[in-house]
Amino acid sequence: MSKFHSLADFATKRFRLAGKAYLENGDPFFAPIDRLRQEAEERGDYFVSFANYDYLGLSNHPTIKAACAEALETTGVGALASRLVGGERSVHHGFEQALADFLGTEDALTLVSGYLTNVTTIAHIMGTRDAIFIDELSHNSIVSGAKSAVAETIIFRHNDLAHLDQLLTEKRGQFRNALIIAESLYSMDGDVVDLPMLVALKKKHDCWLLVDEAHSVGVLGEHGRGICEFSGVDPNEVDLIIGTLSKTFASCGGFIAGKKPVIEWLRYTLPGFVYSVGLSPVITAAAHTALQLVQNESWRIERLRRNAEFFVELAREAGLDTGPAIGRGVIPVMFRDSHETLAASAYLMENGFYVPPIIQIGVPKDQPRLRFFLSASHSEAEIRGVINLLSQIAQACPATAHSINAAE
Ligand SMILES: Cc1ncc(COP(=O)(O)O)c(C=O)c1O
Repeated sequence: MSKFHSLADFATKRFRLAGKAYLENGDPFFAPIDRLRQEAEERGDYFVSFANYDYLGLSNHPTIKAACAEALETTGVGALASRLVGGERSVHHGFEQALADFLGTEDALTLVSGYLTNVTTIAHIMGTRDAIFIDELSHNSIVSGAKSAVAETIIFRHNDLAHLDQLLTEKRGQFRNALIIAESLYSMDGDVVDLPMLVALKKKHDCWLLVDEAHSVGVLGEHGRGICEFSGVDPNEVDLIIGTLSKTFASCGGFIAGKKPVIEWLRYTLPGFVYSVGLSPVITAAAHTALQLVQNESWRIERLRRNAEFFVELAREAGLDTGPAIGRGVIPVMFRDSHETLAASAYLMENGFYVPPIIQIGVPKDQPRLRFFLSASHSEAEIRGVINLLSQIAQACPATAHSINAAE
């Protein structure tokens, strides 16, 4: 008979296996960033974060704060029930229609979390005789959605659409419905999916297509409309566009956009929507105002693009390995070893740059990295400053950050 373990014993063991030892020389996670920023400013220093996906620099925008203050005054914070049974506020529909218009879809629906949106949608639409094809580097919310679904999950190699084609050719016939899921801009590598090719595969094999645009709305495309605009694809070719309000929209929550009959069905049946509270009216006002700013202050999209391209250019000149990143909102700098990654992150922090290490969680264990989120609010001097420090680290310890040549 196996020995009984209390939950605390079990948790201690699991945490050790998950890499707790990496925290022994100081915990780089959960940094109190508001206090650190304030303390740095009081000392006359700077505190620059590359850890937050405030892509267009809207997080402190006065117009958003004013919209939130007004919503707070008129409606209070909570939505106070599921919208289906508790009723909704006019801001909900107003925002959803504006979002659908912006994305070029017929309709949209908001939920309280981007993570939840993937989990509940994937699990809800795929049944017992169905298959879900996902990229091996899919975000955990997609993996959890696929695990929660009763359908079979089939994994294709990262961004390898020839492999997906081969798997579909071999297996599609065994299933009733098939859903292909891909991300537009991958959150750890900063590379993009070949959407025209994906749409061609979806048609060839009679599948549905879900694209997670968490990191591409406001980032890709001349007007920030995402991967469809970026790659010249009609958004109506994609069955479901899923996204989040926590990144470009500097708020919190998730959304699904697509054809009217699909969204209408989900509005009445999607468990994560029907059995969960509606989006807070204050949060909705924030996201709606951010959406208006994406359109009214479109210079921010161009500024983000220039910043990200500048970062990649300097990084490559310094011999750093930015992996497959295309040079938009997300750019990794790859390291060979988790300890070196932790040391590099600590060194940057000592010098006023907050870039937490990505080790163990969310990436293959042998591909540790510092992951940089670029923002329209970064200055050239800040980008130059952080690359100079990385370059010093690479020179002091040449095996630390991969050099481009070594990586090839
Ligand atoms: C690709 C992707 N999808 C979904 C999510 C979940 O979004 P949220 O953090 O807003 O819940 C994230 C979060 O970073 C993500 O990277």
